[in-house]
Amino acid sequence: MAIRSSEQLVLVDHPLAQHKLALIRDRTTTTRDFRWLMGELAAFLCYEATRDLEMEQIDVETPLETARAAQISGKKLGVVAVLRAGLGMLDAVLDLVPVARVGFVGVYRDEATLAPVEYYCKLPGDLEERDVLVLDPMLATGGSASAALRLIKEQGSRSIRLLSVVAAPAGLDRIAADHPDVTVYTAAVDRGLNEDGFILPGLGDAGDRLFGTR
Ligand code: PRP
Repeated sequence: MAIRSSEQLVLVDHPLAQHKLALIRDRTTTTRDFRWLMGELAAFLCYEATRDLEMEQIDVETPLETARAAQISGKKLGVVAVLRAGLGMLDAVLDLVPVARVGFVGVYRDEATLAPVEYYCKLPGDLEERDVLVLDPMLATGGSASAALRLIKEQGSRSIRLLSVVAAPAGLDRIAADHPDVTVYTAAVDRGLNEDGFILPGLGDAGDRLFGTR
């Protein structure tokens, strides 16, 4: 794997995130707990990915007096969930940024070729005016995320961050090559991929574990 600058990769190694990552990897974790943990991990990634949002000073009337306070200024936020598994991160991210506009990109991976197949795209019309957070818990070959990022850029978006719970080196290399302007926020850079394109050690098929489809 190529050495990356912090502009391309942010590893979220907070103890709470790493603890939850250990739980979500566990094959005995139930669907219900898996969903919950996915939301918690998404919140940690979102927290880091929004750390440098522009702020402005305002006055707020407390019950006692006027306080100087800060509020987010600058560009608004957009969130794009990559179907299906990105849905598992969406609610938790919207809890943190409730005013964000939301889009969806449907991409699945052809099981034989591992190539991404695009089947749905519904994005907010004003995405070019927003900082965009793209949600997909698994970055394996990177084909799905790269395709999603291309679709979002075709809409005019110029400020995009990718939030993936687990990333493989091949996926990070693919994003760095195809989208060098996009920073990846992840809780783990795993060892690699097996012959079926699954991340090792990974956490299994996130979509199936979220929705109980296998
Ligand atoms: C999984 C995962 C990513 C993609 C990662 O989706 O959620 O979107 O594969 O693989 P890649 O980096 O090699 O493209 P999947 O194709 O299983 O679809 P699903 O989310 O609908 O289950």
